[in-house]
Amino acid sequence: MKIAVMPGDGIGREVTAQAVKVLKAVIGRTQPLELAEAAIGQAGIDAAGDPLPSATTDIARKADAILFGSAGMPGDEAIPFMMRPGASLLRLRKELGLFANFRPAFLFPELIGASTLKPEVIEGLDIMILRELTGDVYFGEPRGSGVNAAGQREAFNTMRYSEPEIERIAHVAFRTARERRRKLCSVDKANVLEVMQLWREVVARVSAEYPDVEVTHLFVDAAAMQLMRAPRQFDVIVTGNIFGDILSDAAAMLTGSIGMLPSASMAAGTFGLYEPVHGTAPDIAGKNLANPLASILSMAMMLRHSFGQTANAQRVEDAVRRVLADGLRTGDIFQPGCTRVGTEEMGDAVAATVLR
Ligand code: NAI
Ligand code: MG
Repeated sequence: MKIAVMPGDGIGREVTAQAVKVLKAVIGRTQPLELAEAAIGQAGIDAAGDPLPSATTDIARKADAILFGSAGMPGDEAIPFMMRPGASLLRLRKELGLFANFRPAFLFPELIGASTLKPEVIEGLDIMILRELTGDVYFGEPRGSGVNAAGQREAFNTMRYSEPEIERIAHVAFRTARERRRKLCSVDKANVLEVMQLWREVVARVSAEYPDVEVTHLFVDAAAMQLMRAPRQFDVIVTGNIFGDILSDAAAMLTGSIGMLPSASMAAGTFGLYEPVHGTAPDIAGKNLANPLASILSMAMMLRHSFGQTANAQRVEDAVRRVLADGLRTGDIFQPGCTRVGTEEMGDAVAATVLR
């Protein structure tokens, strides 16, 4: 198992260390584990003058999977976009063709009280949001800013998808739904945007190949409303880059804390990048306060999707559940009557539980 480890900046370093700790515990000596650490984000700038050093991309290409922490620090807005620490991840995803971003919104029953929503609305919540990651307004050309004919400043971006890009993510979505509860909701804005009309048309056409999956189409505004009103109606949601960015953060919050949410970004095949959904959290960085469970659960996704190790992935997820059931909590998920622990202690507890 060849894994590129990219802790990045801020709490990325702290939480990734815990994920590696649990990985070593679960794999033990049963399998050769090759971990190659690579600098990214501010760490990349410090090491090589580039947030995504070429040495880092090389390590990534040689690996079977990437375990990523987080990158970016506030106050970098003055730096040209692609040289910002935070853009390193965008560049890496694009370079490696990581087009399918899986973000599960899963509620651990132990944390039902940590959500802002009523228990009866979220009990048993288990949604998979699939976000297209390499197209849309984030990469569409033309983009830029300048002065228009009337002498006013203006800026513009382009929402753009090609038919093959939509087809590719649609197939992943239908296959994912097949492995779950066979329900797929495609989210677009086909009533207003031509690019989203194409999206809807292509998803509808691909759906003919998956007659066993029930498919629905929602406009993104309606989808946002339904996610808050009755989130359990959803199984798999597939959408474009920007709608997926927004909806997945909203769905994430249904489950309590951003510190609980893993993600996987996949290319064709089994190569993937696994990372917690959260950022570098400068407000708590370096204080042993960050919740490492999102990172640990991302590592479990890696075992499942890149290495086909379903049993080990399950062991890690079960260990997380047992540690929560034992009442261990970092500050972000703290509930009265529980035991407050730090990043390291949470990582130790999960690692010890995996071995039990
Ligand atoms: P953030 O996710 O870093 O933090 C948002 C809030 O959630 C903060 O109050 C933070 O303390 C809390 N939080 C986040 N993760 C936590 C954890 N594991 N345990 C406990 N609390 C946690 O988002 P923010 O503040 O918008 O961004 C900070 C920096 O991170 C920015 O420079 C941004 O560009 C970068 N970023 C990087 C991402 C990545 O590498 N994938 C994703 C999002 C932001
Ligand atoms: Mg986001």
